[in-house]
Amino acid sequence: MTEQTLSNLLHENRRFEPPAELAAAANVKADAYDAAATDREGFWAAAAERLSWAKKWDRVLDWDNPPFAKWFVGGQLNVAYNCVDRHVEAGHGDRVAIHWVGEPVGDKRDITYRELQDEVSKAANALISLGVGTGDPVAIYMPMIPEAIFTMLACTRIGAPHTVVFGGFSAEALGSRIEDFKAKVVVTSDGGYRRGAPSPLKPAVDEACGIASRAGHSVDKVLVVRRTGQDVAWNDSTDVWWHDVVDAASSEHTPEAFDSEHPLFVMYTSGTTGKPKGILHTTGGYLTQAAYTHWEVFDLKPETDVYWCTADIGWITGHSYIVYGPLANGVTQVLYEGTPDFPERGRWWQVIAENKVTIFYTAPTAIRSFMKQGHEIPDKHDMSSLRILGSVGEPINPEAYVWYRHVIGGDRTPVVDTWWQTETGAIMISPLPGVTAGKPGSAMTPLPGITAEVVTDEGQPVDKGSGGYLVLTSPWPSMLRTIWGDDQRYIDTYWARYRDQGYYFAGDGAKKDEDGDLWVLGRVDDVMNVSGHRLSTTEIESALVSHPKVAEAAVVGANDPDTGQAVVAFVILREEAGDGGENIAKELSDHVRTQIGPIAKPRQIMIVPELPKTRSGKIMRRLLRDVAEKREVGDTTTLADQSIMDLISAGQATSTED
Ligand code: WT7
Repeated sequence: MTEQTLSNLLHENRRFEPPAELAAAANVKADAYDAAATDREGFWAAAAERLSWAKKWDRVLDWDNPPFAKWFVGGQLNVAYNCVDRHVEAGHGDRVAIHWVGEPVGDKRDITYRELQDEVSKAANALISLGVGTGDPVAIYMPMIPEAIFTMLACTRIGAPHTVVFGGFSAEALGSRIEDFKAKVVVTSDGGYRRGAPSPLKPAVDEACGIASRAGHSVDKVLVVRRTGQDVAWNDSTDVWWHDVVDAASSEHTPEAFDSEHPLFVMYTSGTTGKPKGILHTTGGYLTQAAYTHWEVFDLKPETDVYWCTADIGWITGHSYIVYGPLANGVTQVLYEGTPDFPERGRWWQVIAENKVTIFYTAPTAIRSFMKQGHEIPDKHDMSSLRILGSVGEPINPEAYVWYRHVIGGDRTPVVDTWWQTETGAIMISPLPGVTAGKPGSAMTPLPGITAEVVTDEGQPVDKGSGGYLVLTSPWPSMLRTIWGDDQRYIDTYWARYRDQGYYFAGDGAKKDEDGDLWVLGRVDDVMNVSGHRLSTTEIESALVSHPKVAEAAVVGANDPDTGQAVVAFVILREEAGDGGENIAKELSDHVRTQIGPIAKPRQIMIVPELPKTRSGKIMRRLLRDVAEKREVGDTTTLADQSIMDLISAGQATSTED
């Protein structure tokens, strides 16, 4: 974010007080901050008491060996039991857990908690029959269909850690995750619906299993849901249909309690190197904070609210705020398969009106794209049921916040701007809807029980009105436990920078305003945020360099009015490739798509003769960002060869919009 935007943000002086009625009946009130500050462990122990434990813990937090935390040490619980069975036992078996809305209009299914219990039990029995035991890793590559949730919960029911890979990732990306995770079984579907057309998934799984197998890891079984009815290639020794094995399985399954620190799932996310990191979350602490924050930040009233989070289950938001948090709280929620604007641009608003959604959680990039379409489309739908709106994934511009509140929320609804990460597992910094007077663009303050600071390079807290790096200063229940199979990388990535202070380094820049409220500004490392999706510059550079015509590549995230940031690539071709041919940009962009997935496709590729480097050979991305954002190029005095930026800027470079 530029200095100009920054100072605009800090001159933002609109405030939105919580509605009086909401404040009076809020689940969490202002006293929670002090209570948690006085006894942080006691506060989290009380949050853990909201769950059902088969065996109570002996100790709330073991931080004797930082940065390796253990929460609710010695406790035992079953996640699926907490998300499903206990609600049925409490007499809520007839409550709808999921209003599933398929993309094809009219394709719907309501699933009660009792039905969910049957489905999850059947899926658990089926996984066992396929040889999955406690501790065996399962990979999930599925569209937004109920079976995806059944599978996740079935895994937790039998203590099998899962990794869900976003359906938009390529076969290559899936293959490397299957291999790294050593998945024994992969659960997928023939395909899903995307903009009215069936879009295949199974072929990517076949290819991915081949990639994993060539890298030395073979998958035992592939379990396939029939969703679209597309033809699929079939391997009789590995492939089984869901409707054969799950439908035939018993709906009786007794959940077993697992240790609080039993691995629950791994979520791969981009870091600053080419290899994605497998972020490990465990059982008791994760479920405690996912469930508590969902109840706290959205002021959830499970008897009356209808909740909808538009994220995909392939991201952490889908894990914590579609599956684990909401279901642990016994919520009724909408699960939507498709894109926001299919078959028409008001589809989301129609889903809200039809299901009388009361709490809605989405991303700034979606809000900005609706904003461009104007208020006429949402105005046609009755959205008076809404009472709370949430935002996640990237900084929300004040204008988008105000539009969201006004046009979607009818000026009644608080907007909670929730800051967190794959690594934090749950929301960390956010307003409380019944307490906080919200400022558009600010995530405000750490939640009760969470401590954060904005610090200098040396780890000193900055003064009010100044900026620095965002750190978390004490452990929290849903924190990542390590990077799957790589403890050293866990230490180096998050804990080395502020080793002396023992702070977790989040990788974000932030500003503390005159009131002490926090404004998260975005990544300070080589990680980009495109439409709320996290991408690594190095990962895309590696993908480009793996193309036979490419000698060298540098990727930067440039500001983009729609997607927050956009991928811009600077590429040096190999000599034998000549000028690359007239389709070079498309060729390279398609290559990135097959290597990583459509989300990583560059907005723009520039063919350049050289890259700006320091004398020690480090690429000066700052200068490339200037070019990508069409600004005057900044200070070049540390460049090894000063003429390079002239070459690039003077249009000797071929710029190719895709
Ligand atoms: C990064 C984490 C949290 C789930 C979705 C993304 C950015 C996230 C906000 C926010 C400003 C935000 C940060 C963070 N981010 N929420 N409310 N305001 N920035 O999870 O892929 O792990 O990305 O998203 O840069 O570090 P993720």
